[in-house]
Amino acid sequence: MITYNRVNPGIIKELQELLGSNNVIHGDLSKIEPYSHDEVSDPAYSSMPEVVVRPADALEISAVMKLANRERIAVTPRGAGSGLSGGAVPLSGGILISTERMNRILEIDRANMVAVLEPGVVTNDFNKEVEKEGLFFAGYPMSLEMCYIGGNVAENAGGGRAIKYGVTGRYILGLEVVMPTGEICLFGGKRVKDVTGYNMVQLMVGSEGTLGIFTKIFVKLLPLPRAKVDMMVLFPDIRAAIDSVPLIMTEKAIIPTGIEFMDKLSLDTASDYLGESKRYRDSGAVLIIEMDGNDADLVREDCLNVGELCLENGALDAFIAEGPADQEKIWKVRRHVAEAFKALSPVQSIEDIVVPVSRIPDLINRLEVLSEKYNVIIPCYGHAGDGNLHATIVNKPDIPIEKWQVTLPLILSDLYREVHIMGGTISGEHGIGHKRKAYLPLVLSEDEIETMKNIKRALDPLNILNPGKIFDL
Ligand code: LAC
Ligand code: ZN
Repeated sequence: MITYNRVNPGIIKELQELLGSNNVIHGDLSKIEPYSHDEVSDPAYSSMPEVVVRPADALEISAVMKLANRERIAVTPRGAGSGLSGGAVPLSGGILISTERMNRILEIDRANMVAVLEPGVVTNDFNKEVEKEGLFFAGYPMSLEMCYIGGNVAENAGGGRAIKYGVTGRYILGLEVVMPTGEICLFGGKRVKDVTGYNMVQLMVGSEGTLGIFTKIFVKLLPLPRAKVDMMVLFPDIRAAIDSVPLIMTEKAIIPTGIEFMDKLSLDTASDYLGESKRYRDSGAVLIIEMDGNDADLVREDCLNVGELCLENGALDAFIAEGPADQEKIWKVRRHVAEAFKALSPVQSIEDIVVPVSRIPDLINRLEVLSEKYNVIIPCYGHAGDGNLHATIVNKPDIPIEKWQVTLPLILSDLYREVHIMGGTISGEHGIGHKRKAYLPLVLSEDEIETMKNIKRALDPLNILNPGKIFDL
């Protein structure tokens, strides 16, 4: 285990000279505390930085990285802190680099359908800007009102539109990156094709802040689809909803923009949290199905077709959202499930398992077995269309926390082993961070993990950047 030096007054002074004292936060615990955790509810996953810096550009970040290497101080990069695996938590204290000031959309290049932005742009703000130009960024993480595009790239965020549009990495054409040792590299650019050397862009995507800090992001845009229809389909129980998911694609040959799933507990919890009426009280599970395209009639027809198929397969009812306000209402409930569960019970573990779509029914069966075996509640919701489900293991109120702390790792090991056997894995979109690193050997071989470690060692020989994430060196 590498030990790091502490941030001493001399280093604070040097950081203040580099960035200006306004952009160096230290000493005041109440100002530093918000940077000590992400959205993981268990406080055991938080850790305080010694100093927070708010650089303005790549040169400043480069100077900080060079200083950190010289002084052997750990550095953790952070976006909005909306992550769910502890990826932005400064485990070894040290310097935390917040990208909050780097929040400019530098260019929307219509001719090439590419935008260039800084990492601290809020994803939804970006969506709105490009929509004004008739363009579309296909990434749709559920935290989009809060998260930053830099974090989306670092975690290769998935979200609600992955079945049709894929995940964030598919839209990243180029990255300006400050390397762990402080060099500034520009990988890729506005090119759709590029095989000039290793694919460094896609190595950086999803590297969870361990291989570099992004300072410019080149995002591929699409034409904004002219029509979008959202539908909510009510099912009597989880099984009926989940069994319909693969049929939508195989029987009807339709790939919707999204097929999202909520069981009753998830739907009710999020509705209560938002003060929404529980319009769907009698159903045991729902699917939200979104369809888009350029021909409004065709999109609607596809929607009706899919609704019919669901009704043939046991659905109780299907509603088409009328207009954008109604659409937003449906999606708002879905986007707030995680937040609602966190507010309801902090003693929980939100999971991010992913299996091949055809195995979702088996996964649901296993979750039922596990919840009985270990006497826990496991509400479930997520991106059913791509097999990525957020089963959330929640402690029952009468079970002492000490028992929960012993039981949770047993449940997780059991669950992860099952998921691996089904051809799935332990994280579809939230990343390993430090929340899941102990379980990595359950799904990756020693050789596979060692290959990843060798990449990390080559790029960050002193293990300065975001140490303790994904694996320990
Ligand atoms: C969601 C987050 C938790 O899908 O990924 O709601
Ligand atoms: Zn999700």
